[in-house]
Amino acid sequence: MAATTPRATPFGATPDGAPVDLLTLTAGKLTCRIITYGGAVQSLTVPDRTGRPVDVVLGFDTLEDYLRQDKYIGALIGRYANRIGGARFPLDGRDYALAANDGPNHLHGGNVGFDKQVWTVERLTRNAAVLSLVSPDGQEGYPGTLTVRVTYRLTPGGLELSYWAQSDADTLCSLTNHTYFNLDGHASGPVQRQRVQLPAQFYTPTDPQSIPTGEIAPVAGTPMDLREGAAIGKGADRAFVQLRQAGGFDHNWLVPGPIGVLRPAGRAWSDKTGITLEVFTTQSGVQFYSGNYLDGCPAGKSGAPYARRWGFCLETQAFPDAPNIPHFPSALLSKGKLYRHKTVYRFS
Ligand code: BGC
Repeated sequence: MAATTPRATPFGATPDGAPVDLLTLTAGKLTCRIITYGGAVQSLTVPDRTGRPVDVVLGFDTLEDYLRQDKYIGALIGRYANRIGGARFPLDGRDYALAANDGPNHLHGGNVGFDKQVWTVERLTRNAAVLSLVSPDGQEGYPGTLTVRVTYRLTPGGLELSYWAQSDADTLCSLTNHTYFNLDGHASGPVQRQRVQLPAQFYTPTDPQSIPTGEIAPVAGTPMDLREGAAIGKGADRAFVQLRQAGGFDHNWLVPGPIGVLRPAGRAWSDKTGITLEVFTTQSGVQFYSGNYLDGCPAGKSGAPYARRWGFCLETQAFPDAPNIPHFPSALLSKGKLYRHKTVYRFS
């Protein structure tokens, strides 16, 4: 008989003494481990076509490695996923300055985003964990005290994330998860031959600092057209200025259909393991990032030498820099209103 896994085990403590736990969720043949530091997905094991378990996400064995890395590995991202140009935005007639942590721009919530905070475990069952945090008024420059709750629910078919947030003043909110997937297994090398398919007809081109230009451009006739699917390496290295300046795919694609309704955002698969990942979201956009900047990452689980393109991300989100681009769907969270979004990662 299989040994029962403890649901929560100690995973060290942050430099200021906050204890961090490792949570284990199980459902059918799937196992998912989450650490309370950054609410990060630490491992996600799914069966390959022969039934052999494969850990398909990048992660680390120790908290020290999580503290050392700056790649947002597996983490929950907030208050605002992706970039805000010039680390400023207007709201209610005021101009707000945010922490500039990516040159002059704001990235993934700033210097101490939600990825670098210890989340509270509100509830833990065999297959679900509810994590929460309170982000005080003014944190990283954002107005309003924001209360955030994220539910991870593992099912026999995949992992579901439900995001919930509420603020006591008008603010911005766009939450995501920054898991790097490698469908051949986290330690198996670059993802270049794995294929990605995105249903989007449009994407948001960026400037050389990865800030959207404001254009909503058709993918048709460009290497950004992934409607038929493409091998990541082949696509990412095409001679196209948008790809050249970002070192590969690192863009926001528009998820077709009405915002707020769960709908397909993208799909990826590996011919080697036969594992397919499908992503569904209620959000307006998905950032497909081909792991272009993974060089310099500490070694991962079991010493795996993570490097450029060893993982890809499908980050469901509001459009980058939406707070400064009036024709992008609004990412404003009004005082007292409920922010609710859902993303599902389905494996087959
Ligand atoms: C962004 C990349 C960034 C990376 C940081 C991604 O979500 O799109 O531009 O370098 O996060 O690890």
